[in-house]
Formats: sequence, C-alpha cells, structure tokens
Amino acid sequence: MSDETEVKNEAGAAPEEEPRVGVFVCDCGSNIQGAVRCNEVRDFAEGLPDVVAAEEGKWICSVDFLNRMKESVTENNLNRVVVACCTPRTHEKLFRKTVAEAGMNPYQLEFVSTREQVSWVHRNDQDVATEKAKDLVKMGVAKARLLEPGYEIKLPVGRSCLIIGGGAAGMTAATAIANQGFQVYLVEREAELGGLLNSIGTIAPEGNSAAEVKEALLAEIASRDNIKVFTNAKLTKVEGYIGNYSVAVEANGETEEFHADTVIVATGMVEIDCTGQYMYGESPDVVTQLQLEGMLQAGEVKDKKNVVFIQCVNSRNEERGCCTVGCGASVKNARAIKEAQPDTNVYVLYRDMITVKEEYVHLKEVMKEGVVFVRWEYERPPVVTETDDGLAVTVYNILLGQEITLPADLVVLATGFQGADGVEDIKGLLKVSANSDGFFQEQHIKLGPLDFAAAGVHLAGSARNPKPMKDVRDEGYGAAMRASIPMTAGFVEAEGIVAKIDLTNCIECGLCAKKCPYGAIKLVGEEGKTPEVISALCKGCGTCAADCPKECIQIVHYTDEQLLAAVDAALEHDADKKIIAFVCHWCAHGAVDIAGVGRMEYPPNIRIIRVMCSARVAQRFVQHALDKGAAGVLVAGCEFPTCHYITGNYECKDRLEKLRRKLGKKGYDTDKIWEVWLSAAMGPKWVSTQKEMVKALGLENKPI
Ligand code: FES
Repeated sequence: MSDETEVKNEAGAAPEEEPRVGVFVCDCGSNIQGAVRCNEVRDFAEGLPDVVAAEEGKWICSVDFLNRMKESVTENNLNRVVVACCTPRTHEKLFRKTVAEAGMNPYQLEFVSTREQVSWVHRNDQDVATEKAKDLVKMGVAKARLLEPGYEIKLPVGRSCLIIGGGAAGMTAATAIANQGFQVYLVEREAELGGLLNSIGTIAPEGNSAAEVKEALLAEIASRDNIKVFTNAKLTKVEGYIGNYSVAVEANGETEEFHADTVIVATGMVEIDCTGQYMYGESPDVVTQLQLEGMLQAGEVKDKKNVVFIQCVNSRNEERGCCTVGCGASVKNARAIKEAQPDTNVYVLYRDMITVKEEYVHLKEVMKEGVVFVRWEYERPPVVTETDDGLAVTVYNILLGQEITLPADLVVLATGFQGADGVEDIKGLLKVSANSDGFFQEQHIKLGPLDFAAAGVHLAGSARNPKPMKDVRDEGYGAAMRASIPMTAGFVEAEGIVAKIDLTNCIECGLCAKKCPYGAIKLVGEEGKTPEVISALCKGCGTCAADCPKECIQIVHYTDEQLLAAVDAALEHDADKKIIAFVCHWCAHGAVDIAGVGRMEYPPNIRIIRVMCSARVAQRFVQHALDKGAAGVLVAGCEFPTCHYITGNYECKDRLEKLRRKLGKKGYDTDKIWEVWLSAAMGPKWVSTQKEMVKALGLENKPI
C-alpha cells in the first residue's frame, strides 16, 4: 500500500491458516427449492474439502438466518463462507457485512448464484438443476478455500465539491451542497448558467416558466459565498481520487487551480442533429423542438396556420430507445400554440404517446382543445415535401388505414438527444465511461444510478440520459446527497478488491502502468521503473493482472489461483459437456440475472465464473479451461463502449483475438472460444448465445 492512511477489516484468516469453510444453502422459499433439492446440495457441500459446516435455510437473507450465520461462524470458527442463493449484484454486501460482524474478513465470502443461474432457468428439470447447483457450490468452495483477506482503505475526505455543468441539475446540486456548508466550485462551459433552461420557455408538463426557475436558482447561488462560479470555463485538469482531487479550470483567459474532494458531473444533453431528415436544413420551416421553444418565446409562431409535430425522430429506432421527453414536450408546445391561436391547426404525428401522470392529463386536455393526433408506424415514416403553398406532410394513418396529406407552415421535429459536447474530454479527465450517444454510464441503473464506479464521482440529470426537468432537478439533489455523505463523514472506505504486485519476477517492463485505465500504477524506484499500486486509485478491473507477462500481479478475490480452482472444480467431471463462462460483474452478470428473473430457460451446460471486468480474463485462463477439456469457453462483458472500467472490454476483445491466433497456430480448435458483449437488459441475448453455443459445439444431444 502506498499512500493511504488507514485500513479496515483487520480480521481474517492469515494466508497460512487452514481454511474452515461454511456453506449456507438458501431455499429462497420455493424460488430455489421449487427446482433444486436444496437438502441434497447441503449434504453434498458437507463432503467438500475443508467444509466444516453446511446449513440450509428457507430465506438465508432473513434477519433470523443472518444471526444464525453469525453464530455458525463463531461456533465453527469459520474463516471462509460460501452462500448459495440469489445474485451477488444485490446481496453480496449484506452477506459480507454479516460475516464481518461475526469477526470474519468480508472478502473471504464467496457467492454462488443458485437462483438466477439455476432454479429460475432450469425449473422444469429438478435433476439437472440440482446437479448444476452442486457443481456451482463445488466451484464456490474451491475458490473460497483460497480466498485471502481484503482490506478496505479509509481515506480522509474534506468539504469541497467540483460540479461540472451549470444547468438545472448542476445548479440544484450546487445549492444543495452549499446549503450544508460545503465549498462548491461550479464550472460551466457557456457564458451563463442555466443550460437548457436558457433554451426553453416553459417546463412540461405544467408549463411553469423556465426563466423563473432559473432566476430562483441564480439568486440562491448568488446569495452563497461558498459557491464559486466559473463561466466560459474549460476544465483542463482533474487528477487524483476522492478526498484528493487537484483541479485546474481555464476561464476568461485565466487558469485557476484548486483542491476538490468530490465531483458531480451534470453536463446535460443536446439535440441530435436532424440535418437531411424531413427537409431539416433545407427548409427554414422545419425546426427542432428546442428551436420551436425559441420561436414561441419570440412570438414567431403567430402567423402559422398549420403546425405539424413529428415524434420519435432519431429515437426508438435500431440505435436508441425512447427519448423520454419528446411526447411531454410536444403536448406542452402544441397546447401553447393552440391556446394562443385557437384557429391554428396543430397535428402531432406519433408512434406511441408515452406520457406519465400529469402528462397524460394534459394529453387528454389538448385533444379536447382540438390538437389532432395521427399515429404512424416505424416502417412508414411521414414524408415532408415542398409544395407551391409551403410544406406538406404525408403520413400513413394506421388507425384510419389510409394515407393523408397535411399542409404545414411549420414542421417541428421531436428529435432524440445525445450527451453534451465535451463528454470525451470529461471521460478522459475523470476516467469514467459513456455510451455511444455520449451519455455517462452510471455504476448500476438501480443500485448506483447517481454514482460512477469511482468513489466520490457522481452524476446527475441529462448527463446520464434524457429526462423531464423535475427528474433533472431531483437527480441534482440526489447527487448532492451522494457527494455529501463522505464529506459529512470526513472519510470514505475504498473497496478492498485491488491489484497486488509481487515484484519477485517483475522485469520492470512498465506494461502494467501503461495499461491501467486509472493511472493507479506508478513507476517508482531509483530508475523509475518499479511498479507500485496506488490502492486508492485502483478499481480492481484486472487489466494489469491479465496482461502482466510475468504473472506478477493478482487481484484480491480474483487471483489466478482462485479463478483457476473454480475452473478445475467445474471440469472435474463431464468436462466435454461444459462451457466455462467468465462473466463480468456489471452488464454481463446483469444480463444473466435478467434471464433468470424472466425465467428464460436455456441449456444447463454453462458454468459461470464471475470477474469484476472482462479485462481480468487472461489468455491463460481460456487456454487452461480448454486444456482441461472444456467443450467451450465464453467471455461475457459489457457491450461497447460501456465497460464499467472505461476500456476493459476493448482490452479483453483485443486479447481474445490475439489468443485465437496464438492457439490456432498451436492446433487448438479456436471455434470453442466465444465472446458476447451485453447490456444489463440483454437477458434474451444471453439466452440465445447459450443456445447457439450449445448447438455449435455439438452439445445438444449430450445431456448433462
Ligand atoms: Fe463489464 Fe468491463 S465491466 S466488461
């Protein structure tokens, strides 16, 4: 450890201490027990090496059973625990906390997923499900026996926050943080604060004045002497980690440097360029929704007799989903036009009107006010043409079953959105990831929606995805609260899953430092060549460990030895019928869980070994599994470009391509090496990959 001040979890087995493993098998009511004979799994676990206690519980996450687990740790002097239950993505922390309360090191707990990976997806064959559950427990115990203690680093955190983006989310976050007495640095690239509040006249659905909301926020910011605002500003440096960021901002020709303890990203969004679509760019009478907002404020819609809105431009297509705000905005603006000019014909050409709560009420009201809604289908989009009288929009009305042509003095495109300009710069500075539309990638859509993987860096508002103004401001408050927690406590505990370097065989090639996406390995020593891990910066992705040519680097809880022990346990019998899958904890595991939650059945051949990131999968892991006779090896990670460790999936993909070439030359069947890149919602793709793989590997008629 280099520069940290304090460590936690001093408890735990010393590496040389004999493992004493406890296995806790959950019935999850009938969720697991309905498909898996859990008592048989428990009995099987009792016979595994170093297992000194095995128990079955109806709900092992219940308070009663957690207390029982703690008693068992004490009674049996356990120094390793395996839980066989739901998914680590929701329950790992709880079980870690439980064993820690009983005096065990929390990193010596291993999680086996017998619900999402077994009972829910093999629910029609109790024998198959029970055997697979036993296999997973065996793999878990094999890994657990080798687990070493992990130590969380306690880092001091001061009382200052950098907020990037001075729109509604950023301004709201700034006031919420400043109100607690913390120092705020609010950095805005434009000449004035406000973001989209500067572009819109009113806020959907109620139609409140955007200017009034902005003025209220500006007044609050101005009244606070602990908010320093930079406008016309560019961030040129953000270096460090939570509690220790060194920031430089260039504003109005001057550079200012300061320290910040936490960071909030609230950079907002912009409309996707519509040039070339629906005559946008060719006719001045085709505008976007935001341009219409400006026209409404300037009174430029007054002479328009026919206004046609076209919904779902650049959204709900093969590239992206619903833009979330287009329907609400069109209803609001259609109403504004109709109320100001009742004689104007207003048409909204929609695919589905997606409105929630108050928006739906407004939708009903504008229908009564005479706004006409025409439904079209994706395959037959509206067509805008120029006529002698102006523009015309031809659309196939699927409810009438006929094509209609509407005259138009003004066509309004409700286009989709993308992250604001500058996302790439911020990604590079903060070492965070964003998707292909430039929206930043949260840590977990449900469990960490306002957090990045890096502690102390949070996000809010439309920087994450498009959302209505109310949600934008709510997220501003939410991110402020997230950032305030460590600033109030005065410290944060960083994850114990970090890289460890054994310098014995190190040849000081510097590859680890070069590969680390977080700059967490510095080269020290007399010649500046000796690698050293800065644990506070390390996120445990495993890129360095997988690529180290001398295998000098290990990741706590995911060492080579531990992962390969799980591979060996899985392949101890029927290896030629089994597929070893290395699955990243984030999106890929999310997809596995979604397949489970959706009760999507797939063949039982897969044996999943979790890693934090696909970047951890070394070539030697894949080769080892093939050498042990695996029918196939699958590597599953986050879809591009959204790895939770910035570029981990790219590193992995590149490594797999090289491995195929290398093993191909050695005579291996490289068709056995598969990869799949998933979003957390892609349960169906996970399932179809299993089916395709089983078919391609000739496993269909080999019952397991
Ligand atoms: Fe999923 Fe990196 S976290 S591939």
